[in-house]
Amino acid sequence: MLMRAVPVLFATFCVLEAVDYSKFALWEKRTLRCGGNLCTLEGTGKWMKEDLAECRMETTSNGNSRQVCAIKCPGADRDSVISKTPMWNHKCVRFSTYDTLERNQEWFIWRSGLCLHQNITLEVHCGFPEKQRR
Ligand SMILES: *[C@@H]1O[C@H](CO)[C@@H](O)[C@H](O)[C@H]1NC(C)=O
Repeated sequence: MLMRAVPVLFATFCVLEAVDYSKFALWEKRTLRCGGNLCTLEGTGKWMKEDLAECRMETTSNGNSRQVCAIKCPGADRDSVISKTPMWNHKCVRFSTYDTLERNQEWFIWRSGLCLHQNITLEVHCGFPEKQRR
């Protein structure tokens, strides 16, 4: 009996090993609400109620200044499409005057140029690898 069970167990183990867990993401939402240059952050997940966002001004390599706000998705390995409210705000344009960025395994939303002083809400989803379930 034992001799018959071993190959079965071995085969099962191999199948499990072949699964790429990085393909299974857990998604959490982050909402950054900015009125002028003051922003709050709210999120789903184990935390978090709306609170003042941690933002700071930075100067980019081409001399522009931008505001960079932490969105608290440590360990996330991807983000999904950002939505903005109001949608008709044309001073905030993704890739041009706002976007996400990843730095040292932490995630941020930056705003620059005409988007800097807008009343705008930006919503993004952070994808966490399943194996890092928290
Ligand atoms: C942002 O909202 C405040 C309060 O409603 C308003 O006074 C201000 O003019 C708004 N700023 C912009 C750029 O729309």
